[in-house]
Amino acid sequence: MLGGVDVRDLAQEFGTPLFVLDEADVRWRARAFRDAYAEAGASWVFYAAKAFLSVAVARWVHEEGLGIDVASGGELAVAMRAGVPGEALLMHGNNKSMAELQTAVEYGVGRIVIDSFEEIARVAEAAAQAGVVQQVLVRATVGVEAHTHEYIATAHEDQKFGLSASGGAAEEAVRRIAKLPSLTLVGLHSHIGSQIFDAAGFEVAAARVVALAQRIYDEQGIEIEELNLGGGMGIAYLDSDDPLDVQEMAGQIGDIVAKACAESGIATPRLAFEPGRAIVGPAGVTLYEVGTVKPVELDHGQIRTYVSVDGGMSDNIRTALYGADYTVTLASRVSQAEPMLCRVVGKHCESGDVVVRDAWLPGDLTPGDLLAVAATGAYCRSMASNYNFLPPGRSSGCGRRRPRDRAPRDDRGPARPRCRHLKGCALFSAVRSRSDEKE
Ligand code: LLP
Repeated sequence: MLGGVDVRDLAQEFGTPLFVLDEADVRWRARAFRDAYAEAGASWVFYAAKAFLSVAVARWVHEEGLGIDVASGGELAVAMRAGVPGEALLMHGNNKSMAELQTAVEYGVGRIVIDSFEEIARVAEAAAQAGVVQQVLVRATVGVEAHTHEYIATAHEDQKFGLSASGGAAEEAVRRIAKLPSLTLVGLHSHIGSQIFDAAGFEVAAARVVALAQRIYDEQGIEIEELNLGGGMGIAYLDSDDPLDVQEMAGQIGDIVAKACAESGIATPRLAFEPGRAIVGPAGVTLYEVGTVKPVELDHGQIRTYVSVDGGMSDNIRTALYGADYTVTLASRVSQAEPMLCRVVGKHCESGDVVVRDAWLPGDLTPGDLLAVAATGAYCRSMASNYNFLPPGRSSGCGRRRPRDRAPRDDRGPARPRCRHLKGCALFSAVRSRSDEKE
């Protein structure tokens, strides 16, 4: 059961592989972030849309009081379609096109994060054309590499994002922005990476960005009113993963910034954050159907069973790309069989096409069984590809059901949720008891 709905019903209704996202869980997490970070001094929590975006998800998070961080014209278009007002949007990107910037400015996107010198002139031009004054932040790289996979750490200096805090580029950007009448600087931005479990990385980053704010004030007389510390809050993929909970992380970061500001003698700016994974990651599950079960003898005589499912690296590239680990379970029946060591693999023509590298699954696993891979709400569907042209339509659908309102199983005919179309994804407003308890 997922959110009170039988996964076999979902698989039958929509086909597999199927992303299932629990609306109640997403909303609960959005509220938890909004409240915890507001208490820590944040005026905005922007949901990082790159983690997972659809019109429905944009509406859910906005209804729960979050803004949305978009990183392309495509993400902006979805947020616009969802009716999210411009003032609740923030735009990122290290190479935003003129067309993207014009759309953003015309729609009234509240904040555009400047990532290069070229972009200062482009945003200024777009704003001047539209006859508006555009609010911008400067993205500073502060030389911190968060403890995470090297491909997704972003604040060390040798990388494409932002302008160096220590080398003077960020200050120079502020100087140039101040001279342009169609731009107004609201603050500084720093994002140090993703899947971060503690506040240590934020501590160093905050100290450096606060020092930058102080230099800007001392040398240019410009007060930094807003400090956006990006996203990166980690989630548990395995039992052994132990990220700080949302209140604790928010509290620690709030204290860190307040202390850094007090030490450098500047007024504490209002804060902003951009969590993505932590809002949608745990709320998502991918359902697959088992197609083949193949025991393979390893060098030392042990057996590893390759369990092939009907999706793979086209719906979840994270295992192949980052060596990500996942938890998987047999979801369509109960089995008392002894566990066997398995590797859950996809159906793509590539041996690196692994979904779950090591898993213990029941020894009687058989074709037709459904497997559920947990915590796939973030960066799976949004990074999905067309590799091998697996049929995406098979798993289309967007169901909305309220199990609490449903008749007992035996009194109902076949389940027929109202569908809105969304490729390969079921979004449903099931209410999880765990979320209820936490409300
Ligand atoms: N803000 C900025 C400027 C970002 O670049 C990112 C993520 C976020 C916020 C949201 O970070 P989150 O809270 O989701 O960690 N594809 C990788 C993750 C890439 C993250 C890119 N930037 C993965 O699958 O782990």
